[in-house]
Amino acid sequence: MAENDCLVYLNGDYLPVGEAKVSVLDRGFLFGDGVYEVVPVYGGRPFRLDEHLRRLDGSLHGIRMANPLPDDRWAEIFNRLINGEHDQYIYLQVTRGAAPKRDHAIPADVKPTVFVMCSAIAPIPISGVCAVTVDDIRWRWCHIKAITLLANVLLRQEAVDRNAAEAILVRDGWVTEGAASNVFAVIDGVLTTPPKGNDLLPGITRDLVLELAQENGVPAVERRISLDDLKRAPEIWLTSSTREILPVIELDGVAVGQGEPGPLWPRMQAIYQAYKQRLRMA
Ligand code: PDD
Repeated sequence: MAENDCLVYLNGDYLPVGEAKVSVLDRGFLFGDGVYEVVPVYGGRPFRLDEHLRRLDGSLHGIRMANPLPDDRWAEIFNRLINGEHDQYIYLQVTRGAAPKRDHAIPADVKPTVFVMCSAIAPIPISGVCAVTVDDIRWRWCHIKAITLLANVLLRQEAVDRNAAEAILVRDGWVTEGAASNVFAVIDGVLTTPPKGNDLLPGITRDLVLELAQENGVPAVERRISLDDLKRAPEIWLTSSTREILPVIELDGVAVGQGEPGPLWPRMQAIYQAYKQRLRMA
């Protein structure tokens, strides 16, 4: 099926993507006033669905909105849009909806706009990627998965301009996360990722990597990572729903470790893929 024939969900209807339209007064369009989720789908099944829906609740609560749909309704929509068995991801977005006039303050009695689409997951460059460090210029509520992503867009583009795949964000000398990923580094032999807080998104992949590390006896800790420690780390990984566990082999133009995925990565990658496979078979 060509991408533009693809069915999407918009406010109760299933439509070809080219026919799905929202109002120019939608607050998502005018203010970036909304939140989103990205849920990977393996073997036709949403991965860690409950965790994604709970994070959606948290994001909506953070912007003073109620969840417009119950869990079983979300699942029904996802199942209708999932197209075959190949690896894909669901993108869902809830905005505050279209108010009669543009006003920053939150309007009363506006119906939220609910949009869902399903897309193929691009091949993951598991031989490793280059990353650059940049100043984290974003707002202070990065735990909310807001559609307001201008800073992330500009920071990712800065990475692309420097021939890198991701920007690793640093605030006051401490690593927060990637422009669209969480960050892990091996520090003194321990897999380390910054603790959750308002300065980073509580990544579902991040949590799963920590959970799998614990179950499989891989030493791991949630601890702040200084820029100096990051630069010395023999292994750096980026995690996200669409890129899984991605090794960084070059940071700011300097090789990470031997300039190839380090020894812990294949171990964790095997554990992660086995976990995915169990879901496909379940
Ligand atoms: N982004 N941090 C940020 C800023 C992100 O945008 C993402 C994911 C993550 C990783 O979270 P998770 O493991 O739950 O995917 C961390 C998605 C994939 C996106 O915006 O497309």
